[in-house]
Amino acid sequence: MGANDPLTIEPLGHGDADIVKWVVSIAVAWNDPPDLPPFEVALEHPKLARFHRGWGRPGDFGMRAAIGGAFAGAVFARLFTDTDHGSGYVDDSTPELGIAVEEPFRRRGVGRRLMEALADEARRRGIGRLSLSVNNPNPARRLYESVGYTVLEDDGASSIMVLRL
Ligand SMILES: CC(C)(COP(=O)(O)OP(=O)(O)OC[C@H]1O[C@@H](n2cnc3c(N)ncnc32)[C@H](O)[C@@H]1OP(=O)(O)O)[C@@H](O)C(=O)NCCC(=O)NCCS
Repeated sequence: MGANDPLTIEPLGHGDADIVKWVVSIAVAWNDPPDLPPFEVALEHPKLARFHRGWGRPGDFGMRAAIGGAFAGAVFARLFTDTDHGSGYVDDSTPELGIAVEEPFRRRGVGRRLMEALADEARRRGIGRLSLSVNNPNPARRLYESVGYTVLEDDGASSIMVLRL
């Protein structure tokens, strides 16, 4: 990968469940928690499986990034319900997102481009808001703030942030 290799952004397809799983596994392990079981086990826990199981259902969308043809990261968004949702849930019409960038490609603007492309696609779909959950110490918060997300709820350990589109 060279510094001038072009960054390309493409939509996630219905067959990209493995990419969504990868995003979930990286996002949940952002601070290398010592007690996390192996990814294949953790990903099947109901708390994480809800983000990727049956990927491609109505309302699912996302973006993948490549630099010089190499996979660099992805963002996905999914709708949840009052009775089945994770920590970033706001309401049934607000997709919750997850994002991860491959470590060697971080701090090069890939995350920002993915977030911007996701917001563009959400606007195109007539979606009013996007939401997410972030642990307060995660530097990802700065990325979210810089692309317009604001804190809706903060319980002291983590926050729900939303982008009004
Ligand atoms: C969060 C993540 C997706 C950011 O991706 P990225 O491609 O590095 O982000 P960008 O390069 O577009 O960063 C945009 C801005 O966000 C902020 N930022 C991102 N990562 C940061 C870090 N580690 N420390 C401080 N600021 C950071 C900076 O303001 C940065 O702008 P700058 O580089 O011009 O200062 C990436 O670090 C990642 O995959 N982390 C692990 C998974 C994770 O935590 N996901 C989110 C869970 S809620």
